[in-house]
Amino acid sequence: MATALITGGTSGIGAAFTRALAARGDDLVLVARNADRLTEMATEMKERYAVNVEEIVADLAVRSDVVGVAERLASVEQPIDLLVSNAGFGIPTKLTEADTTPHEHAIDVMIRAVLMLGAAAGRAMRQRGRGTIINVSSTAGFVAMGSYSAIKAWVTAYTEGLANELHGSGVSVTALCPGWVRTEFHERAGLRISAIPDLLWLDADQLVADCLQDAEAGKVISIPSKRYKVLITICEHLPHRALRAVSRQLMSRRH
Ligand SMILES: NC(=O)c1ccc[n+]([C@@H]2O[C@H](COP(=O)([O-])OP(=O)(O)OC[C@H]3O[C@@H](n4cnc5c(N)ncnc54)[C@H](OP(=O)(O)O)[C@@H]3O)[C@@H](O)[C@H]2O)c1
Repeated sequence: MATALITGGTSGIGAAFTRALAARGDDLVLVARNADRLTEMATEMKERYAVNVEEIVADLAVRSDVVGVAERLASVEQPIDLLVSNAGFGIPTKLTEADTTPHEHAIDVMIRAVLMLGAAAGRAMRQRGRGTIINVSSTAGFVAMGSYSAIKAWVTAYTEGLANELHGSGVSVTALCPGWVRTEFHERAGLRISAIPDLLWLDADQLVADCLQDAEAGKVISIPSKRYKVLITICEHLPHRALRAVSRQLMSRRH
């Protein structure tokens, strides 16, 4: 019997991981800030799939809360087999704003917490000689769209570094890099999405199924869907000047 810990497992992509993992019989540890939504999701999974679900109310922007989740990942008596570091959000704030706290908050949740949880899970899993870590990054990390891109570029590069550090240990490490997915993400960040063509929207359940397969196969970078694989391959081959121009276009449609 496996146990998976999912940060942000109550909504969007994280909720899709929660449903997929419960459906295959994994016990769950769900982490998010909103206690009511955690309980609602936990109750639904217990009733529907007869799995055990622990709820951890934690704000991953708060270091002491992250330490608490890291301690849960380090437990020897109740081992975690799969970590999905998923919690995150969009950052509509411009890089030149006088108040840089939205960027700092994003760095705390999407970099510091990912680093601390990956370290705790990596150590515990390496000791057991098995385990899986999935960090939810983004295709935004391949372009230049403000601090969100910079943060997700870090998540992808960090995941590759962690995969190298754990190479041969029995622990697989994967960065999931989705394109646009209809979740609460865009509304929460106040991002305009009307200009995004239908073709570019991905289904959360499908991308999670693909990612779990990629992780199982030991793929370090998981880019869901053929169309995004093609788009990212093009991005990787474009001169940086052209990539910055594309990024400017995308940014101008967002605000
Ligand atoms: N949607 C997209 O188009 C897209 C594309 C590429 C990558 N992503 C990435 O996918 C991940 C999930 O995003 P989503 O689209 O599923 O967004 P979402 O629907 O808004 O879900 C975000 C989840 O993260 C939790 N969360 C947010 N801040 C938190 C904090 N400080 N501490 C603990 N939990 C927190 C939320 O729960 P609480 O509010 O209760 O804390 C919620 O469960 C993010 O890392 C995002 O960057 C999204």
